[in-house]
Amino acid sequence: MNSDSESAARTPAPIIGTSPADLDRAAAVIRAGGLVAIPTETVYGLAADATNGVAIAKIYTAKGRPSFNPLICHVASLAMAEEHAHFTPLARRLAEAFWPGPLTLVLPRRSTSTIADLATAGLPSIALRSPKHVAALGLIARVGRPLAAPSANPSETLSPTTAQHVAHNLSSKIDLIVDGGACVAGIESTIVAPGEESAVMLRPGALARSSIEQFTGVLKAPDEAEGVLAPGMMRRHYAPRAHLRLDALDVRPGEAYLAFGAPPDGLSPSLNLSIRGDLEEAAANLFAMLRALDESHDSIAVAPIPSVGLGEGINDRLKRAGALASQDSV
Ligand code: TXA
Ligand code: MG
Repeated sequence: MNSDSESAARTPAPIIGTSPADLDRAAAVIRAGGLVAIPTETVYGLAADATNGVAIAKIYTAKGRPSFNPLICHVASLAMAEEHAHFTPLARRLAEAFWPGPLTLVLPRRSTSTIADLATAGLPSIALRSPKHVAALGLIARVGRPLAAPSANPSETLSPTTAQHVAHNLSSKIDLIVDGGACVAGIESTIVAPGEESAVMLRPGALARSSIEQFTGVLKAPDEAEGVLAPGMMRRHYAPRAHLRLDALDVRPGEAYLAFGAPPDGLSPSLNLSIRGDLEEAAANLFAMLRALDESHDSIAVAPIPSVGLGEGINDRLKRAGALASQDSV
């Protein structure tokens, strides 16, 4: 994809739809080593052939991502996943219950796996998930190999939940954008490393802890488990430019107010994550609303959000986004 990729560095990436002909075109770009932004049910991903190290290197460059931070490989089926990782019976039960869906499994990598080392950042483990989006699954099936895809945003900035978000931030650095509509979940997948009988939660996300714990028992935290690394869990992440003030019960001069549920008397929200107080709706709105307020304000007051169900993932993203200002002053 050399000449195309070079011109892609200057020309905005075309935005195409999800018809069979569109997906054929996207598959051809990926097979030739190009970068294609793809819709998933969580956030848009920046996809490349996971077996092509040169293509993976282009992902890191386009995102400005530290090369030690490994990528999730997206598969069309459990069978495709089993070619690349060792599944314990528990891991298989989780995949059968939640795939396609917003659950990423970190598993020991098979020595015979053809996934490029750069995709797993040289780790002996591999992160796999099957996305619940018809276009994404159709594309993986057409390519016939796993697609490595981090969220399609410059490193440390807000994740994209529409094709327009991707176009705004990455257009000149990638080859093609597949527009599959707004992401229904809106925050990234939950990442779990299953062992023989228990599992570690590496990142809360779009699949609630309680759903997974039906299969695993109480999920462990990474620091309770030896040898499991979550290299991407840096504190500063998903950050807008604006300062975030979390758990805000009032609104100060100059601040935008991002509400959740019915606002307290006298406060008028700039935007509301969910007037009904619905955590799924809030997750789906989170990144797009932060992005919108970031454009018009230097400071955003965010209403308290309960840490139950998807609230755990939402609060995780908000804390990382809010870490920016305090870290900068250190
Ligand atoms: O919903 C999602 O998960 C989206 C969509 C596009 O699928 N992808 C996504 O990818 O959020 P990314 O690259 O932004 O986050 C992947 C996370 C990182 O924190 C990375 O460190 C972790 O997965 N990860 C990947 N491979 C790992 C491994 N072998 N062990 C531990 N963590 C791993
Ligand atoms: Mg990301």
